[in-house]
Amino acid sequence: MGWNSWNTFRTDINEQMLRDMVDTYVSSGMRDAGYTYFVLDDGWMAMERDNNGSLVPDPKKFPSGMKAFADYVHSKGLKFGIYNCAGTKTCGGYPGTHGYEYQDARLYASWGVDYLKYDWCHADSINARDAYLTMSRAISAAGRPMVFSLCEWGSHAPWLWAKNVGQLWRTTTDIHAGFDKDLNHGSWSSFSVMHIIDLQNNIRQYAGPGHWNDPDMLEVGNGMSYDEDKAHFSMWCMLAAPLIAGNDLRKMSPQTISILTNKEAIAIDQDSLGVEGFRYYAFDGLEIWVKPLKDNSLAVCFLNRSSHQQNIYWDWKAHDIVDTLSKTDIDFNKTNYTLRDVWAKKNIGTTAKVFKQPIGSHQVIMLKLNKTN
Ligand code: GLA
Repeated sequence: MGWNSWNTFRTDINEQMLRDMVDTYVSSGMRDAGYTYFVLDDGWMAMERDNNGSLVPDPKKFPSGMKAFADYVHSKGLKFGIYNCAGTKTCGGYPGTHGYEYQDARLYASWGVDYLKYDWCHADSINARDAYLTMSRAISAAGRPMVFSLCEWGSHAPWLWAKNVGQLWRTTTDIHAGFDKDLNHGSWSSFSVMHIIDLQNNIRQYAGPGHWNDPDMLEVGNGMSYDEDKAHFSMWCMLAAPLIAGNDLRKMSPQTISILTNKEAIAIDQDSLGVEGFRYYAFDGLEIWVKPLKDNSLAVCFLNRSSHQQNIYWDWKAHDIVDTLSKTDIDFNKTNYTLRDVWAKKNIGTTAKVFKQPIGSHQVIMLKLNKTN
């Protein structure tokens, strides 16, 4: 869990603005809700390495240097992350790490970096697996533990090989703050929240504690409606996704804060069983997602993707929930569960009764089911 500068600020970052962001990270309650990492994305560097081949923070953006900034982040009880790229340049055109892996890792360690996001631009002639393994080894050799976040957009199926290379790997191209329509940039498109969800369905068996599928950073607070932001956040929790906020923390509405810091939703995301949820049912734009949790509890999320209101009528007893991955096999005729509505924050009955509730367009109803007997 953390925050990253990219989704809102792109390369337009600087020390003062980021210090303010760190302060708000704490005062808004994000840190207390469990967010820990503060990650600088692309654009922190000067355009050239120095005479020793070392990366240099842009002196105009970071006049106090990167060690001082990292110290500030640490002084607030947070961890510090930074960005580079496996190619010759970053996606923004700054110096990439290709050929400098050990040198860059040592520099990050000397600054106190705790997290490295490692991108995949300008890497045409490079073997992805080798490049990420080399950087992973360079981090180990640098002697400071760092979370290693692979960002090659799922291009080389990292879920098949990255389990021992890093702790999370992007599964798709970039997200944008749209519910179900991609955004065309000419040569490429960034994906909507629903498009990204659809690309997660066959890879859940590769995720687990310490090695996660990463459907990209959050767009909560970046322009979608309240309902859409809630649906986006809920679904990332159902997917056991890394929760990396990407909004301007200094300008959060109370609604945005209430979404990002919903402890019951976060607990579903962070559940220690570490099993990613799956689409259990889909009909006419209404979906039901299920995430098995520790202690035989369960998260169930109704998601209305359609453009019209629907009426949920769900007879638990008529639908067993079976998941071979987590060895879940529930017959609601034999076992009764209480229903906790994670957004309404109230208990709303049990699985003994048919669940009936209207659900508006782009809304979710996220339930936590606890066994009663
Ligand atoms: C790629 C990544 C993004 C971001 C930018 C920075 O597009 O996927 O998350 O890091 O590069 O240039």
